[in-house]
Amino acid sequence: MTAKTKKTARKTPVRAAISGVHGYLPPHILSNAQLAEMVDTSDQWIVERTGIKERHILSGKGLGTSHMGAEAVRGLLQKTGTAPSEVDLLICATTTPDLVFPSTANLICDMANIRGVGSFDVQAACSGFVYALTIASQFIETGMYRKIVVVGADKMSAIIDYTDRATCVLFGDGAGAVLVEPSRKYGIIDALLCSDGAGMPHLHQKAGGSRMPPTAETVAKRLHYVHQEGAAVYKFAIARMAEVASELMRRNRLTGDMVDWLVPHQANKRIIEATAERMRLPADRVMVTIHKYGNTTAGTIPLCLWDYEKKLKAGDRILLAAFGGGFTWGGIYLTWAYDPR
Ligand code: ACO
Repeated sequence: MTAKTKKTARKTPVRAAISGVHGYLPPHILSNAQLAEMVDTSDQWIVERTGIKERHILSGKGLGTSHMGAEAVRGLLQKTGTAPSEVDLLICATTTPDLVFPSTANLICDMANIRGVGSFDVQAACSGFVYALTIASQFIETGMYRKIVVVGADKMSAIIDYTDRATCVLFGDGAGAVLVEPSRKYGIIDALLCSDGAGMPHLHQKAGGSRMPPTAETVAKRLHYVHQEGAAVYKFAIARMAEVASELMRRNRLTGDMVDWLVPHQANKRIIEATAERMRLPADRVMVTIHKYGNTTAGTIPLCLWDYEKKLKAGDRILLAAFGGGFTWGGIYLTWAYDPR
């Protein structure tokens, strides 16, 4: 190797690049009109205040988050021509694990025939996928692993109170999965992970954990559902999403016209629009799926990438931004690694 090529090699670090994406949405659709028959709401209210028109719900006895995650992973392996035996690690971001233990990642590996490798869950509510992808990138950058599957999956319908109009209209079920591999050309350039546990009272599930284990009383009091103070969370979300996006742009000397795509967590259309406005991004460079999937928690970002995959080109500059219960928030700046196939 000459002195010149040595220098070039040092300047191009190994990055973690997304080399494939796939998703799964359960076939059953719950429309706004159907919700209006269940609680005191209307299609007009839901669309105007949230942008959501319908969401998918996983039905079928005994099916949990792992079912959707495994569907997404099997599809991902097939479309990227990856044998299950080639996968080095699987990480699943979820707030609705099938069981307290073992992890949903463990179960997905079994269902997707991925054997004998590490697998674990990441719990960061709606920011879970950003957290999990950032963790995966560390294993790739250090050279420890070469093929990592990152899943974002949630069966929110399992913890939603369908008598509470303030939450039941917001959430849906779904899963997305990406394959992460080393690249010297494209991939994750920067990431930001943040949390503030003082936000817990505004968004959490009161019972079912070690602090308040399930009893007949907790069930009778409906404490196993999402408790959300919508207005407080909304205020927090608007501020933090904009903060994440502008901090990543500042650190990487990006202006709005240099960003090809914003991939925001899909909690509310108004939060998505406010973030894009702060970044000076036109609507046609913002991924939006909330109208058809609602908020699928850890699923929203990989499902957006899957939905828009055919529009993405190698080298596209992409910003992921998320926030959620905890509070947690974070973002990733990456370049897309492949042209439409
Ligand atoms: N249909 C009709 N009326 C409703 C509904 C509904 N589905 N839900 C609430 N309302 C009513 C309220 O009862 C209230 O009525 P009142 O004034 O008589 O008391 C009124 O609408 C206004 O309520 P707000 O909560 O102020 O409504 P807002 O405009 O803030 O919208 C919403 C509510 C959509 C929940 C919004 O606050 C929001 O999007 N919050 C953020 C949600 C979020 O991002 N969650 C984080 C991610 S989730 C996770 O991490 C697991």
